[in-house]
Amino acid sequence: MRMVDLIEKKRNGRELSKDEIKFMIEKYTNGVIPDYQMSAFAMAVYFQDMTTNERAHLTMAMVESGDQIDLSAIDGIKVDKHSTGGVGDTTTLVLAPLVAAVGVPVAKMSGRGLGHTGGTIDKLESVPGFHVEIDNEEFIRLVNANKVAVIGQSGNLTPADKKLYGLRDVTATVDSIPLIASSIMSKKIAAGADAIVLDVKTGAGAFMKTVEEAEELAKAMVEIGNQVGRQTMAVISDMSQPLGYAVGNALEVKEAIDTLKGNGPKDLEELCLALGSHMVYLAKKAPTHEEARKQLKEAIENGKALETLKLFLKAQGGDASVVDDPSKLPQARFKFELEAKESGYVSGIIANEIGTAAMLLGAGRATKESEIDLAVGLVLRKKVGDKVQQGESLVTIYSNKEDVQEVVGKLYEAYSISSQPVEAPPLIYKEIKE
Ligand code: URA
Ligand code: CA
Repeated sequence: MRMVDLIEKKRNGRELSKDEIKFMIEKYTNGVIPDYQMSAFAMAVYFQDMTTNERAHLTMAMVESGDQIDLSAIDGIKVDKHSTGGVGDTTTLVLAPLVAAVGVPVAKMSGRGLGHTGGTIDKLESVPGFHVEIDNEEFIRLVNANKVAVIGQSGNLTPADKKLYGLRDVTATVDSIPLIASSIMSKKIAAGADAIVLDVKTGAGAFMKTVEEAEELAKAMVEIGNQVGRQTMAVISDMSQPLGYAVGNALEVKEAIDTLKGNGPKDLEELCLALGSHMVYLAKKAPTHEEARKQLKEAIENGKALETLKLFLKAQGGDASVVDDPSKLPQARFKFELEAKESGYVSGIIANEIGTAAMLLGAGRATKESEIDLAVGLVLRKKVGDKVQQGESLVTIYSNKEDVQEVVGKLYEAYSISSQPVEAPPLIYKEIKE
């Protein structure tokens, strides 16, 4: 087999076999196939697309390029959730204890990464003492005992994807549906998921700017999952404005606690119930989505979800008393209000501008080496559709720097106010169940 022939075959719009794809990914991972040939192949895929079979073979070839996590020692069906990423997306912090409370095992492997705020692990580390440096044995023991544990990413997961993603980034081949879908799905499968729930975001703050694009990606991933024996479902949700109110690490932990108490932002709660009911259903803990949703609501109302959060934090060294007293979380030294310059209705909050403002405060990492300030961030006081009076607060800024001029500028750029009433955008555009 020669790579040049495979490139030509794809360039001419023909379907590659499983063996051909496996050959290509194996040889690319170990350096036998050079970057320039893989670049040409990625560009051929960009123009010629891939069939359902090719996408599934590519996904599994990337899964097999490195370590695969074995979660078979954990009882039950392991359902993982993946979000394509947004601003102030607090869903994992809510969902992990929430679905665990109704008996779904949550064996979460998570990263830190770059972004507007830290990753799930950074956020959780704002709970004093909480740590993810546990070994695999302890991880499995904790999931069996409490139904939920989080461990840092370790090992050599999907090296083919890592290499290919880096290459796509510099060859204008990132935004190809078959390549994105196989990239995301390969990582979830290698991390041990039996079933997968996807939160595909759409809007200014998301990777997929339109609902149509988001739907195409969601369908592609659901198809791959089902093809390779991992039941997969997807929700297409709005990221034209940030989710919930809080954007920042400790601030999002507090928001998650509020949500588990039933006092959280309604959009965050609603999305968590939607994603959570898919997870509970796929884990076969409820016969229907409606029944799953009922169980989750009950777990919030009867305090079981909150109890599970406490158990989870304590088991990994965390001070669980933050749940009853969130003032024990890191606190910023300064607090400023962003006052509305005019009266009217909020007509837009550009999510990525809000994210940049949080990053400027120090809530996220600009480079891998940057330190995160867990205490700082933003709490939105007004969302799209809300009525606002001149001088009222749009956003509370939590900062450890006294000078927040640049942040204030970004926030005013993010908000638009209209004199006419505005309707809030829908939260969930679509759900894809098969
Ligand atoms: N996120 C991924 O993990 N992979 C892609 O290809 C694009 C976004
Ligand atoms: Ca939030």
